[in-house]
Amino acid sequence: MRGMTVLAPPLNNKYRYFALVLIAATVVTFSSITLNYRNALNAAENSLELMGLGIAVSLEATLSRMQHDRETLFTDIITGGQWEGIAFLALCDGQGLTLLHSNPHLRNRRIADPQIREVSSKGTPLHAYETLGTGEKVFLMYFPVHIPGESGRSGASRQMVLKLALHTYPAEKIIRQAGTQAGLITLLLGGLWLTYYFLLKTMKHSDAMARVISEREKMAVLGEMASILAHEIRNPLGSIKGFAQYVSEQSEAARGNRARVKESLDTIVSESNRLELLTDDLLSYARPERVITSRFELGPLVHEVVSSPEPPGGRGGEFSCAVSIPEGLRMTTDRDKLKQILLNVVENATAALQGGKNINGRITIVAEPADSAAVRIRITDTGRGMDPETKKNAFQPFFTTRAKGTGLGLAIVKKLTESLGGRVELESDVKLGTTVSVVVPAEYRGLQGK
Ligand SMILES: Nc1ncnc2c1ncn2[C@@H]1O[C@H](COP(=O)(O)OP(=O)(O)OP(=O)(O)O)[C@@H](O)[C@H]1O
Ligand SMILES: [Mg+2]
Repeated sequence: MRGMTVLAPPLNNKYRYFALVLIAATVVTFSSITLNYRNALNAAENSLELMGLGIAVSLEATLSRMQHDRETLFTDIITGGQWEGIAFLALCDGQGLTLLHSNPHLRNRRIADPQIREVSSKGTPLHAYETLGTGEKVFLMYFPVHIPGESGRSGASRQMVLKLALHTYPAEKIIRQAGTQAGLITLLLGGLWLTYYFLLKTMKHSDAMARVISEREKMAVLGEMASILAHEIRNPLGSIKGFAQYVSEQSEAARGNRARVKESLDTIVSESNRLELLTDDLLSYARPERVITSRFELGPLVHEVVSSPEPPGGRGGEFSCAVSIPEGLRMTTDRDKLKQILLNVVENATAALQGGKNINGRITIVAEPADSAAVRIRITDTGRGMDPETKKNAFQPFFTTRAKGTGLGLAIVKKLTESLGGRVELESDVKLGTTVSVVVPAEYRGLQGK
C-alpha cells in the first residue's frame, strides 16, 4: 500500500440537497419579508391618508357652518386634544396666504408652498411628507375646500386649501412591527445557516473518520491475508525445496533409492498443487465477478461435481452419496460458477464426514424449485456438524477449523452465489450434521434491485 493517498471525495449529495433547500427557504423567506414590509409601508400611508381625508371633510363642514370665531377653531382643536394625531392645521388661499392657523403667530403670512397652488388649481387632494423644525417627520394632507364668506380679506379666490399635518408615529407602529418581524425571521435564518455550517463540518469530519476507519479495516484484512498467505505458502514451499534438494543430490549420486526419489517427486507435485489451489481460491475470492450465462440442465452438472477427482464420500468411497434432481430441470445462469459453488460445499461435506465419528456417513444432494422462480440445491451431510461459534464464522474469509484448510471455501460460495443473484442458507447441528442450501434464480437477470 506504499504511496497510497486518501483523497477527499466531492461533497456528498445529501449536503448539497440540504444546502439547496436552505437556499430556497432563504430566498422565499426574504421575498415574503420584503413584500410584508412594503405592505406595511403602504398600510401606514393609507391609514394616514384616510385619517387626513376624514379630518379635512369634517373641518370643511364645520368651517362652512361657522359664521364667527373661525380664527380660534384650529387652536382649540389642537389644544383641546380632539384629534390627537394632528401636528398643526392651516387654511390657505390659492396664493399661499395663511388665513387660519392653529399657531396664531403664523396667521396672515404668505408661504411659498407649490403644493398649495397645485391643489388649488387642480381641485384634487394631495399628500406629502415634511420634516418640521423640531426634527419630527409629519404627513401633510392638502385638501381643496369651498368655504362661504371666506373670500375676502386678501381678495383671494373662493377655492381654498386646507393643509393639515399629522403625526406619523401611530402609523409607524405598523412599520416597526413588520421590521421587528423581519429582524426575527432574519435571525432565525441566520441560526439555521449557522447550524447548517456546523452540521456540515461535523458530517465532513465523520465522513473523513469513516474513510480512515474503512482504510484501516482494509489494511487489517490485507495484513491478515498476507500473514495467512505467508504461513500457507511457507509450509508447502519448505517441502518442495527440501524434496527438490534431495532429488538433486540423489540424481547427482546417480544411484539413489528409486522409490524414495519417486516419493519425493510426488510430494513436490502435491505441494505445488496445494499452492496452485490456494492461489486459485484467493483469486476467486478477490476478483470481481463477471457472470457468463448459458442454458443448461442441472442434473448433469451435479453429476460432474460428484464424480470430480475428489469425489464426495471420500477417495475410498467410505460414505454414500445420493443425488435427487428432477429430470429436465434447466437453468440459465453461469454454469462454471455454480459448479465451483457446489464443489466447495460438497468438499466441506466430505471433510466433515471424514472428521466425524459417524461410520454411516451420508451426503444427499437434492434440487427443488424455490420461491419466485429460483432453484434450491440442498447439500446435506451427516458429518460432525458445527458448534455455534463455527456456524457464526463459517462464511468469514480465512476462518477454518481444518489443518489444511484456507478458510476461503464458504466465503467464495457466498460471494459467487450472490454474484448470481442468489443466497446461501446454513443449518447445522453437532449431532445431526449440516445442510447448506444454495438458492439461485433459475433465470439470471442481473443484480438490479439486489
Ligand atoms: N459441512 C460442514 N460440516 C461441518 N463444518 C463445516 C462444514 N462446512 C464448513 N464447515 C466449517 O466451516 C469452516 C469454514 O469452511 P470453509 O469451506 O470456508 O473453509 P475450509 O473448508 O476450512 O477451507 P477451504 O475450503 O478454504 O479449503 C470449516 O473449517 C469448518 O469448520
Ligand atoms: Mg471448504
